[in-house]
Amino acid sequence: VTTRAVDGVRQTTDARGFARWLSESRDPGLSGALEEGAPPPGTADIISMAAGLPAPELFPLEALSAAFARAFRDDGPSCLQYGSPRGLPALRVLVCQQLAARGVVATPDEVMITTGSSQALDLLGRVLLDAGDTVAVEAPTFPGALDAWRSRSPRFLTVPLDDDGLVVEALEEALRTAPEPPQFLYTLPTFQNPAGVCLSAHRRVDLLELSAKHNLLIVEDDPYFDLWYDQPSPPPIRALMDARKHVIYVGSFSKILAPGLRLGYVVADRAVMKHLLRAKAAADLHSVGIVQSALLALYTSGDFDALAHRALVRDLYRARRDAVCAALEVHVQGGATWRRPRGGFFVWLELAGGVRADSLMPRAKTAGMSFLSGRAFYPYAGGEHALRLSFSPSSPPRLISGVQRLAQAIAA
Ligand SMILES: Cc1ncc(COP(=O)(O)O)c(C=O)c1O
Repeated sequence: VTTRAVDGVRQTTDARGFARWLSESRDPGLSGALEEGAPPPGTADIISMAAGLPAPELFPLEALSAAFARAFRDDGPSCLQYGSPRGLPALRVLVCQQLAARGVVATPDEVMITTGSSQALDLLGRVLLDAGDTVAVEAPTFPGALDAWRSRSPRFLTVPLDDDGLVVEALEEALRTAPEPPQFLYTLPTFQNPAGVCLSAHRRVDLLELSAKHNLLIVEDDPYFDLWYDQPSPPPIRALMDARKHVIYVGSFSKILAPGLRLGYVVADRAVMKHLLRAKAAADLHSVGIVQSALLALYTSGDFDALAHRALVRDLYRARRDAVCAALEVHVQGGATWRRPRGGFFVWLELAGGVRADSLMPRAKTAGMSFLSGRAFYPYAGGEHALRLSFSPSSPPRLISGVQRLAQAIAA
């Protein structure tokens, strides 16, 4: 017999009933949405614009292979031993140097290396949330974060976005009327997943002021910072933070290097870090040492030109962004509205004429493409008439075909 709190009501069920409750009451989440957007087995030529996969042709295979060899040679015994939950000291120094280039001041003891930034989000949920707490999130937002925190049964307070990112006045209003103050605001200020928008520089300042006024902790998730295509990203919110330290910053090597390395990090002041370290040790003791060492070797050996790599990454994705937006202009006019993203991996489409994304999905698959339905990006209702297109994994000709097929599906 298992007891479990559901919407504040404690329920008691037997194990089979509990399993049924789990499968029926849980939102499908990111993995469910990705499964829904996945090509049906045996489909020959589906152009997937569903998952936000980095382009594998950008993975620096040779440089990584040399870096792994070097890590084994120079650091093998120590990196194959148990290590500290904080991560390798020299890698944390490197992260601090990279952050300084973004204007973020951090010391190595304020940095913890995580198994992808996904783990940082999960650990933050464990540390900051008790059952039933409130979390403020953008609507739409990254479903992986919602999934990470759902086990805490939080109440999500949703805040709308516009062309300039999170609407700070709407957050202020939500804070004023919320039954309980949120434990934190989760925000993706720079090339938001899924909406593609970037929080304007002046709103970053307004948001910080508001958070100071309401004593609101901000969790800033910033995996797309380097992926700007028109002009450099504005400084992270954490770079503008004052001594009150109310911004926790989460970063990732997944988009700029390779997601399979599973390396990310979280930057927090020591009081929060103490709890994060305990949660990290409980989760997996530490991220894989040899991978950390290889990443360090990659950036420090002199064989890998990180600046040139970043420029290459931006050039490739910029061309893809341009291709998808040009194709939308030609083929989807009138069928949907969208914003041209200035960075990141995604275009968010609002379908016209009351078309629902979930009814469009089978027609899109029949036409030979797939996307993610908008509802995955909202904790409650929302996004039924919206969808996310990911342009990161496909070449411009495939993206153009993908958009043509989407247009066919909308017209069908
Ligand atoms: C906004 C956002 N945060 C976090 C992640 C997780 O990235 P990773 O765990 O690979 O660092 C992603 C990946 O898609 C993302 O889009």
